[in-house]
Amino acid sequence: MARSSSVHVCSACGHESPRWAGQCPGCGEWNTLIEEARPSGAGRGGPGGGRGGGGAGVKPVQPVALGEVAMLAHDRLSTGIGELDNVLGGGIVPGSLVLIGGSPGIGKSTLTTMALAHLTAAGRKTLYVSAEESAAQIRLRADRLANAPAALRIPVIAETDLHTVLSTLERERPEVCVIDSVQALHSVDLSSAAGSVAQVREVAGEVMRVAKELRIAVLLVGHVTKDGALAGPRVLEHLVDCVLQFEGERERTYRTVRAIKNRFGSTNEAGVFEMREDGLAEVLDASARFVAEATRAPGSVVLCAMEGSRPLLVEVQALVSSSELVPPRRVVAGLDRNRVALVLAVLGRHGGIGLGASDVFVNVVGGVRVDEPGADLAVALAVASAAKRVALSGTGGAPPLACFGELGLTGELRTVAHADRRLAEAGKFGLAPAIDPATHPTLRSALSAALGGGSRPVARAA
Ligand code: TYD
Ligand code: MG
Repeated sequence: MARSSSVHVCSACGHESPRWAGQCPGCGEWNTLIEEARPSGAGRGGPGGGRGGGGAGVKPVQPVALGEVAMLAHDRLSTGIGELDNVLGGGIVPGSLVLIGGSPGIGKSTLTTMALAHLTAAGRKTLYVSAEESAAQIRLRADRLANAPAALRIPVIAETDLHTVLSTLERERPEVCVIDSVQALHSVDLSSAAGSVAQVREVAGEVMRVAKELRIAVLLVGHVTKDGALAGPRVLEHLVDCVLQFEGERERTYRTVRAIKNRFGSTNEAGVFEMREDGLAEVLDASARFVAEATRAPGSVVLCAMEGSRPLLVEVQALVSSSELVPPRRVVAGLDRNRVALVLAVLGRHGGIGLGASDVFVNVVGGVRVDEPGADLAVALAVASAAKRVALSGTGGAPPLACFGELGLTGELRTVAHADRRLAEAGKFGLAPAIDPATHPTLRSALSAALGGGSRPVARAA
């Protein structure tokens, strides 16, 4: 019975087939057939189905000049978590659909529970839909939270059936609802398993339809696959208003939340959190912590990174040891592996530091992930310092060396965005002067400044 209510549509040519097949009978492409719920009633034309041309009997609409469009006042709902509100662009917009992605165990359920706790305490009508955990498990988590009394007042349902959830939403009409997770909900209209692309798309689509109709703000939790893609490959990103990515490693303390897409705000914001005994705590002084923890040993350097529009000082560490392996090991955490390979190649060719017979390990301390070319110089200096076994921070209580800059393939240092903010942050923590592309146009000069007997650059080119 379930079978007849769905159809398999080719995502390449739109061919419809009642059964799944590896190859599309229409265009011959492989793995393009995706199950979809058959539209109920005959009202909707199928994909590619006869809706072409200016249909007879369909009324045209009158275009309006943008200036005459009534502005919607977004009374944003504060989650009580400053960093989260900030990333959202000032709080949750009523009726919006927010996707929160992150790997298992990172703290998505904790974050959403904390947000609902605050909203509930503030008198908002909320609902927590858990499709992964039992109500008892959710209660256990809520009990641990710093704001447990508020968290224990959140109305919850533990339910995996999509239609049950939708009708509950229709009856309860919460202002804010958490659905944890989109992959665990299941629609009986489709025969494919929960978590499949077809199911994820169907679940998100139906939730969106009901949420927009009833003006329910929905926080949709989604798991990401190991390589960082939101499972159900990007199928949801275009659908939702806002995509937040929760990053960091489960074993580490620090996690960041950043907006990848935001229809109601900028995507430049990022928040830093720390997982504690009693839930997630905002880290407002992340730079101060990372600088205080910086080891100043050979192989360590401070990177002036940007987390969105906010500068962040993080420690980059490297270890170089002679290798027994061909090819030697390259182990990278918190940075792009290919980018590190590029830096090592430039270091060999233009910095005179060949590492062809060495294992190289590079790590950003604290579980922070830095995805920007401005990290190149820090990698180069950390690796050079490790290879030469020379500490970069000078002797005694000297502050750690700070740097940033992109490395070109010809050994030049290239400027990166927000140089002024990075320098200001380094200055704030006494890490000036930092080594940057403005004072050191080439890798060679940066290396000699950093390694060359403690002689730090003093004059900044105006
Ligand atoms: P969780 O929010 O369940 O992660 P997700 O929903 O993303 O899978 O929690 C992640 C981990 O955090 C879990 O292993 C337990 C730990 N944790 C704490 O350390 N302190 C806490 O207060 C809570 C609630 C969880
Ligand atoms: Mg969870």
